[in-house]
Amino acid sequence: MQDRLTDMAIGNVLSNAVNIGYRLNLFKAIAEISSPENPVLPEQIAEKAGCKERYVREWCNTLACGHVLEVNEEEKFWIAKENLESLTTDNFPLIYNAMLTTILRPIDNLIECFKKDGPYGLDYTVYSDFEEMQQMFAKTTSEGYVISSMIPDVGHGIQEKLEAGIRVLDVGCGGGLHVRLLAEHFPNSKFVGLDITQKAIEAARLVKKSDGTAFKNVEFVVGDAGSMPKGYTDSFDLVLLFGSCHDQMRPDLCMLEVHRVVKPDGWVVVTDVDGSSNVHTDRETFGKMAAMKYGGSMLHCLPVGSNAPEALCCGSMWGRKRAVALMNQCGFDDVEVKAMNCSPGSVLYIMKK
Ligand SMILES: C[S@@+](CC[C@H](N)C(=O)[O-])C[C@H]1O[C@@H](n2cnc3c(N)ncnc32)[C@H](O)[C@@H]1O
Repeated sequence: MQDRLTDMAIGNVLSNAVNIGYRLNLFKAIAEISSPENPVLPEQIAEKAGCKERYVREWCNTLACGHVLEVNEEEKFWIAKENLESLTTDNFPLIYNAMLTTILRPIDNLIECFKKDGPYGLDYTVYSDFEEMQQMFAKTTSEGYVISSMIPDVGHGIQEKLEAGIRVLDVGCGGGLHVRLLAEHFPNSKFVGLDITQKAIEAARLVKKSDGTAFKNVEFVVGDAGSMPKGYTDSFDLVLLFGSCHDQMRPDLCMLEVHRVVKPDGWVVVTDVDGSSNVHTDRETFGKMAAMKYGGSMLHCLPVGSNAPEALCCGSMWGRKRAVALMNQCGFDDVEVKAMNCSPGSVLYIMKK
């Protein structure tokens, strides 16, 4: 075990160095000015990225020893051709390393939550740059997939309904990425994004079409999913929740409200982290990724979903069994469960009022 513990510590250090490189565009700087035939000194990388040479040198040394960067005897660096894309484009593992700092920021507060007499959980605000990172994360997992793959996967003629023009609600919309993608692609439909966090809605209200013009079919509202406006009753043809069910303290109140606001015969689609509701099965199914899934839940989803005495404390690995039971309890008798082709490790819950 001591060897494994050492490996874990090394992985942690390298992950933090990757995060620094991502945030300061150091990988992109190296990629732009170097090649295997033309390795560069830290001072050249620092100059390109607008950073201090001494810090960049230690960063290069760390990642070269971790075999993330290449180094020669003259202490010049480059990125191996086969690693260029992974280190310089926004992809899931790279963003996850960057996001770890965000979800680890309140680690001392989290330790207090574990204690019997400690706080119930954590408020979103203690994860200071959560909204920005969540948007980056959602971008890598959704942009390019939602329209081309997820909506067709949902089936039930929903794509055709969106094309013809329907009223859609995105609950827990965060910074509005999904509303932006859908509203641009389906201009005949009208979209409302609702989130409890003022900061997320402020960011969402800034979203524009890809040509820079304002949306005419989009509205963003600050609100609690567990108590939506009275006027919403039976008014949406489609209600979407992108990864925002398990994070809530009372997802049951939210799903009861969703049942109220969706029209009779309207559809509800929930995307979530996939899990079986049994850790042993999850370890068999997801291999080493299972630790990442449960770890993300422990560090973020569980504490934000536990922050009140009445909270259900779901965590993102609550899994299919518990999720379907809750949806049944909230009036959705038939819940279709589908793996998400476009995002392995995620699942779709599809239901009709
Ligand atoms: C994991 S984030 C997902 C954000 C967005 N759907 C996305 O995919 O980028 C969960 C979101 O749910 C929101 N949320 C949590 N509890 C809520 C509640 N009771 N009512 C409305 N929104 C809530 C959070 O503020 C956060 O933006």
